[in-house]
Amino acid sequence: MAINKQEHAQWSSSLGFVLAAVGSAVGLGNIWKFPYMVGESGGSAFVIAYLFCIALVGFPILVAEWLIGRRGQKNPVNTFADVAASEGKSRSWGIIGASGILGGFLILSFYSVIGGWALNYITKVASGGFVGQDSDAIGATFDAMLASAGTLTIWHTVFMILTAVIVGIGVTSGIEKTAKILMPLLGLILFVIVGYNVMNGGFGEAVAYLFAPDLSKLTADVMLAALGHAFFTLSIGMGIMVAYGSYLGREVNLLKTARTVVILDTVIALAAGLAIFPIIFSNGLDPASGPGLIFVSLPIAFGSMGAGTIIGTLFFLLITFAAITSSISLLEPTVEFLEERTPMSRTVSTIAASTVIWLLGIAALLSFNLWSDFTIMGNGIFDALDKLTSKFILPLTGLAAIIFLAWRMDQRSIQQELGLSEGAWKLWQIIAKFVAPIAVIVVFITTLMG
Ligand code: PHE
Repeated sequence: MAINKQEHAQWSSSLGFVLAAVGSAVGLGNIWKFPYMVGESGGSAFVIAYLFCIALVGFPILVAEWLIGRRGQKNPVNTFADVAASEGKSRSWGIIGASGILGGFLILSFYSVIGGWALNYITKVASGGFVGQDSDAIGATFDAMLASAGTLTIWHTVFMILTAVIVGIGVTSGIEKTAKILMPLLGLILFVIVGYNVMNGGFGEAVAYLFAPDLSKLTADVMLAALGHAFFTLSIGMGIMVAYGSYLGREVNLLKTARTVVILDTVIALAAGLAIFPIIFSNGLDPASGPGLIFVSLPIAFGSMGAGTIIGTLFFLLITFAAITSSISLLEPTVEFLEERTPMSRTVSTIAASTVIWLLGIAALLSFNLWSDFTIMGNGIFDALDKLTSKFILPLTGLAAIIFLAWRMDQRSIQQELGLSEGAWKLWQIIAKFVAPIAVIVVFITTLMG
């Protein structure tokens, strides 16, 4: 009996961990951001680059972050500093943790704005607002929302309050447990929409658009966008996975767990692509229309399919839920850091961090309307925050993590910890020491020169 009990406890602790990791990874990045980035970068070139980046850069860095987190057992700043010290290296490696915390802080500001759009669309679909409407009317509804600073502010505020309350009262693990039921449901709804698309045209065109290799479109910019998105969608380069790693038991197999998270995350993103692009093509919409893509395409299907109002309402509810399991992971590191490093309590830390993030989010949402003329190096505030984090902070933080793991830590103990045979270990070393860091560096240099 005792053995059984122990086995059960271990199983549920690693399940809890997988749920937290999947909850953080699967979110707006998969369903909102991935499709519109594919559309802006010309389709399959982006998809192929993204798949390579996930496998050769994202996967090893995810493993690296967990492994370092499990060794350090602290918040990301102290973890990097402590692990470095125990390897006889400088404690200033702690800076990696700090840049990760900054990344999460900045991402949440605009993430919450989009979470607000999803919340707003729950009410729009539920009230039957899209039934029988054509794509022009649906596009106009979206444009009207974007033009209204007040509407965007209200929903951004609601989303931010939901996130802050969950983090502030410390019920994140309860929310993550709920993911066990709601995530599969989200997957199911995506497949229902894909099924609808198979019957309603545009499907073959969408499959060709997403998967038929057209490498002529594979520019340095597309590569950087794909690389940045690999970091964003896996929640790496931000310290959150380092923090989760600190809760990991020794018995958890890092490579297998990373494989599960990466596959689930990728499948959801590709399913979102197959749910959206057929509607885009069969309605003559522009795939490159930017961040509004899912909001102008999916309501067309919900407005015309049987039980569309129920399915559509459920869909926006579920992506809001997926967004919240990610946004809590974006807020948590900042709150934890403030709580540990300042005299502020958890509640005060949460309120302080959320307020600043909320204000930054307002600036981001104003770039869609009142402040649309204000740009920073050619980008509105929303785009600037997105690009700064996805294209710079996340990849550079992740790069530092993998360099630290592969070049600065004792390799024999890592081989043991990963449980790899000689052959597999050689492959791992080639990827961790060379392929992943060089890929990040090359993409950077090419972009900077181009
Ligand atoms: N991975 C989340 C998503 O795809 C976003 C996120 C990024 C969450 C970085 C945490 C850290 O929606």
